Amino acid sequence: MSSDVAPRQRVKSTGLHIGDAVPGVAKVDPILIADSVTRSFGGLKAVDVEHLEIPRNAITALIGPNGAGKTTLFNLLTGFDKPDHGTWTFEGRSLAGVPAFKVAQRGQVRTFQLTKSLGLLTVLENMKLGAKGQRGENFWAGLFPHVWRKQEDAFEVKAIELLTRFKLDTKKDDFAASLSGGQRKLLEMARALMSDPTLVMLDEPMAGVNPALTQSLLEHILDLKDQGMTVLFVEHDMHMVRHIADWVVVMAEGRVVAEGPPHVVMKDPAVVDAYLGAHQDVDLGVVTGRYAGELTGEASELASEIQGLDHSPDPAGKEQTT
Ligand SMILES: Nc1ncnc2c1ncn2[C@@H]1O[C@H](COP(=O)(O)OP(=O)(O)OP(=O)(O)O)[C@@H](O)[C@H]1O
Ligand SMILES: [Mg+2]
Repeated sequence: MSSDVAPRQRVKSTGLHIGDAVPGVAKVDPILIADSVTRSFGGLKAVDVEHLEIPRNAITALIGPNGAGKTTLFNLLTGFDKPDHGTWTFEGRSLAGVPAFKVAQRGQVRTFQLTKSLGLLTVLENMKLGAKGQRGENFWAGLFPHVWRKQEDAFEVKAIELLTRFKLDTKKDDFAASLSGGQRKLLEMARALMSDPTLVMLDEPMAGVNPALTQSLLEHILDLKDQGMTVLFVEHDMHMVRHIADWVVVMAEGRVVAEGPPHVVMKDPAVVDAYLGAHQDVDLGVVTGRYAGELTGEASELASEIQGLDHSPDPAGKEQTT
């Protein structure tokens, strides 16, 4: 859908988990399951995830302070990096050891914290690179141009459709390098959709995006769920997380320290603790409102976020059970 219509009232997915919402909780219908995934850099254990399940056809936010291991986990799950240990399945099939391009072919795509569009290719050329099963790349098919040209045409039609949806169609012949940071984020997301994914993983989709574009990006993410996809996204903006996430997974120092629905998890002392880990001078009792005191900077933002949750437990509209 396009973002020039008024934002629709969205329905949050609930009933996603089985039992108490503790770290590693089982999901009713998980699309991705990770077990004992670890990755160290020198003496630092960047990722140490015992068990994690991502619920299907829902929007899951992966949050945590800088250096918590969010991007490293994304890299591991998508084949861009190799873990020291661990197994994980996507749609019931093991993905351990599967290279990134094959992970994407199976329907699990990701975007990058720092966009990776190729500046010296046009917007349209970037889009075509996102398509899967390109016959021209196959040696035998490459010998028969009529085979791959037909496919090229189909890719172009699809690329233009997606670019139109993301309001980038007028830029199709421009070099990607000429786009703004926000437009590059949109291009990356549009390109990810060229391969008809089932799971879309977005690493800080809003970072560096002009406020004028954030609403449309947000709507695009919500649209993915409406179209049957599953979304896992990393985000620091807690307003956005609260607004669009059905489920939140919190990482700190490589581990999953909490998970649950946004209005519950963001009040969890483990989460408050994780975010304020670097601010040991801040009294958590003040942050959680147990007693009065003065807060500064990050702590006061967190406190107002927590208070906001009490007043609007379900800001995106009424809830439904999926
Ligand atoms: N290639 C690497 N070599 C060495 N250390 C690394 C490498 N990649 C990540 N790290 C370290 O691993 C830890 C986790 O980093 P990661 O980028 O996954 O965190 P993050 O949660 O994505 O943080 P941010 O919110 O800042 O993006 C950090 O301490 C980081 O310095
Ligand atoms: Mg990161």
